[in-house]
Amino acid sequence: MSERLLEKIEQLKQQRNAVILAHNYQPGRIQDIADFCGDSLGLSIKAAETDAEVIVFCGVLFMAETAAILSPEKTVLLPDKLAGCPMADMITAEQLAELKARHSDALVVCYVNSSAEVKAQSDYCCTSANAVEVINSLPKERRIIFVPDQYLGQFVIERTGRDFVLWPGYCPTHAVITEDDIKDKKAKYPDAIVMAHPECTEPVKKLSDKLLSTGQMLAFAEKSTSQQFIIATETGIIHTLKKQNPEAEFIAATEKAICPNMKRITLEKIVWALEDMQYKITVPEEIRIKAKKAIDKMVETLPAKA
Ligand code: 13P
Ligand code: SF4
Repeated sequence: MSERLLEKIEQLKQQRNAVILAHNYQPGRIQDIADFCGDSLGLSIKAAETDAEVIVFCGVLFMAETAAILSPEKTVLLPDKLAGCPMADMITAEQLAELKARHSDALVVCYVNSSAEVKAQSDYCCTSANAVEVINSLPKERRIIFVPDQYLGQFVIERTGRDFVLWPGYCPTHAVITEDDIKDKKAKYPDAIVMAHPECTEPVKKLSDKLLSTGQMLAFAEKSTSQQFIIATETGIIHTLKKQNPEAEFIAATEKAICPNMKRITLEKIVWALEDMQYKITVPEEIRIKAKKAIDKMVETLPAKA
């Protein structure tokens, strides 16, 4: 069955001149068939670079919107229209406007996990891979409004010492990883390196050895001589970590860290997306132009090398 689906996807990809981009949290079989798999920064760069006419985005809405903002001439398809990001939905454009009115002297930096409307109201966009570099590139005397992830924000404050106004958003998937999960796994695997995503809560990050974006985790594991890693992020990344490092052991901090939105994408839905050209993600031109400025500045700002 799966073989027939794969053949069908291949045939439809040729027919539509399509490319499949997948985030590192996607189900393993989706990561395996993608033309490019990566973190939010890598995916934004790929979406801007590809010369395919159609991008099938195996991820969540804000990622497909980012592709549509960067490549308006391409058709961007999200195979499941309900694949959203609860963290991105934790701040609206109206709430950001109110915050800006209260701190009119501040620059606004939004995490890429945000709506196109929020990006349109931001000066800069960033991902977890380049947040520190983006903030360090801003004038020292300026205060920074950072939305929506308070935990990524806290991580950047610690690395840059800058003055932030934080929004209390968070990723529900990373919030299920607890301090006790890390303590338990460390007791069981005392030699393992703990890699945590900056979206994790502060107690989890304090117990971790490396704070990395998903792309940086993959790069770090490939270079490391260690053979055991505890992974404090969405468990989907363990599929590719194992594939790229068959000798090493990767232990989920908790098996509960599963993003239900990322897991909405299936092979069948990719076939339907390409057959019916659904679901097209577009951004109104006025918003797109403003949001693109914030994303362009991020892509230009020394994207962090893993
Ligand atoms: P990165 O892959 O950029 O580290 O992002 C993590 C994430 O939560 C995406 O939704
Ligand atoms: Fe959003 Fe968290 Fe899921 Fe990423 S893992 S899409 S931040 S809910």
